[in-house]
Amino acid sequence: MAQPVEISFTSTTTEGLAERTGRVAILVGENGRLPGGLPRLARSAATRALASDAWKDVKPGSALELAFPAGMEAEALQLINLPRRAEVTEARKAGAAIGARLGKSGATVLAGNHPRAQEVALGIALRAYDFDAYKTRKSDGDAEAEARTRGRVTFMHDDPDAMARAATEGAAVAEAVLFTRDLVNEPANVLTTSDFADRLLAMRELGLDVEVLDEDALGKLGMRALLAVGQGSESPSKVVVMRWNGGGDEAPLALVGKGVVFDTGGISIKPAAGMEEMTMDMGGAGVVAGVMRALALRRARANVVGLVGLVENMPDGKAQRPGDIVRSMKGDTIEVINTDAEGRLVLADVLWYAQERFKPRAVIDLATLTGAVIVALGHDNAGVFANDDALASTLLNAAKAEGEGAWRLPLGQPYDNLIKSRLADMKNSGGRSAGSITAAQFLQRFIGKDVPWAHIDIAGVALPPGETTLAPKGATGWGVMTLNRLVRDNYELPPETSPFSKKMKKG
Ligand code: BES
Ligand code: MN
Ligand code: ZN
Repeated sequence: MAQPVEISFTSTTTEGLAERTGRVAILVGENGRLPGGLPRLARSAATRALASDAWKDVKPGSALELAFPAGMEAEALQLINLPRRAEVTEARKAGAAIGARLGKSGATVLAGNHPRAQEVALGIALRAYDFDAYKTRKSDGDAEAEARTRGRVTFMHDDPDAMARAATEGAAVAEAVLFTRDLVNEPANVLTTSDFADRLLAMRELGLDVEVLDEDALGKLGMRALLAVGQGSESPSKVVVMRWNGGGDEAPLALVGKGVVFDTGGISIKPAAGMEEMTMDMGGAGVVAGVMRALALRRARANVVGLVGLVENMPDGKAQRPGDIVRSMKGDTIEVINTDAEGRLVLADVLWYAQERFKPRAVIDLATLTGAVIVALGHDNAGVFANDDALASTLLNAAKAEGEGAWRLPLGQPYDNLIKSRLADMKNSGGRSAGSITAAQFLQRFIGKDVPWAHIDIAGVALPPGETTLAPKGATGWGVMTLNRLVRDNYELPPETSPFSKKMKKG
């Protein structure tokens, strides 16, 4: 697990500012006022900076930097433009400006009584992430300090206790996003199906109910489509069910994730160039796991069940072939035209199982499902499909509020016609045209008639080619924040009826 940056809160003090090492960041509101306690020379430099033309070009959430300010031990003074009513996304971006440049000697943030300070803290935590588990370092003594490439962050705030309270939800969300990023960044020789299942089982200690179904159990359930994908791998296929029951008797929201720990394409093998990226093909499962972690950490007053299908898609003497016909748990037969269209085979069975067993209020699946969604939307928007307009807009609104790009794409009978098979009930590939849509049509065949359902194709956003506002190059954890908000704003009970608040009153 990558080490998260440590963030603490102390009261605003004018003493000792000159002696702070590392970086000192100031949240500058629309009144342009500087906090007290800045050493005289640094203060006059900062005052000039705020009066300059350069400052006029600094947008909300961005920073102007003064290097090695006179009279201070800090290596830099960061002036951050953050109006008091800045958008949440702007405040997180401001945090990212601090987190991206955070060195070993840490940072001090002068937050005053800024109402968006806790969002700044979240931005720091997300952007200061660094997956360096496999970078060998010389160990010369202090192992803990050695393990930290990023120093501590101290917020000076007029009411540090209130800020610490306000920041707890953000801390839960940050931990969850980092958990997802770690999973997605891990290589496939480490994150096998069994290792993945073990990491999910470990979340029992957070109060999640976690159950692992092995190949025997999956066989008895009739999940032949899922099992066919994994049958060429040495790693056993698994389905993991994670339950968070914070919502009384309500039917749960079901989240379903594609967890292909490595996708070679199988017998329809992928070209060598770029194949190493297919360690991220478990990204949907990673997001589902991260959301469940967030819900547990913040003890959400909602019932949510997360299901992930963990398989590895390998070429082998036992692997499935193009032309094979498999029967899904639902009972429909599938002609496997292309063994590289494996994600939909996995999801078909897990989606069906989720509905049969849990009778959910709604189902949302996440998957790095198609290269075609990258052709359509690039790396800035996930593709959203839904059979229900209300669920779609709920999802798009949550994504917008969290600053995670999402764009709806259509479904419809003409697209469904493209996956009709001569031999079976359907085929698993509709060819090149509308590749993301035909994949979604395939999934929709495994959704009950009256079940509100959304499918999110995250192939482009799970591991974009460069850094993003809130993440360094590598896994983003796209979707954890969106789905956490979707649950919070739409599926949670009022506080009084929470089983947890009852427990707390008694105890
Ligand atoms: N895992 C891939 C999709 C993918 C591509 C994810 C690039 C992330 C980055 C998926 O299993 C796949 O191979 N899809 C095929 C489907 C085709 C064979 C119908 C694709 O997109 O080419
Ligand atoms: Mn594939
Ligand atoms: Zn895949």
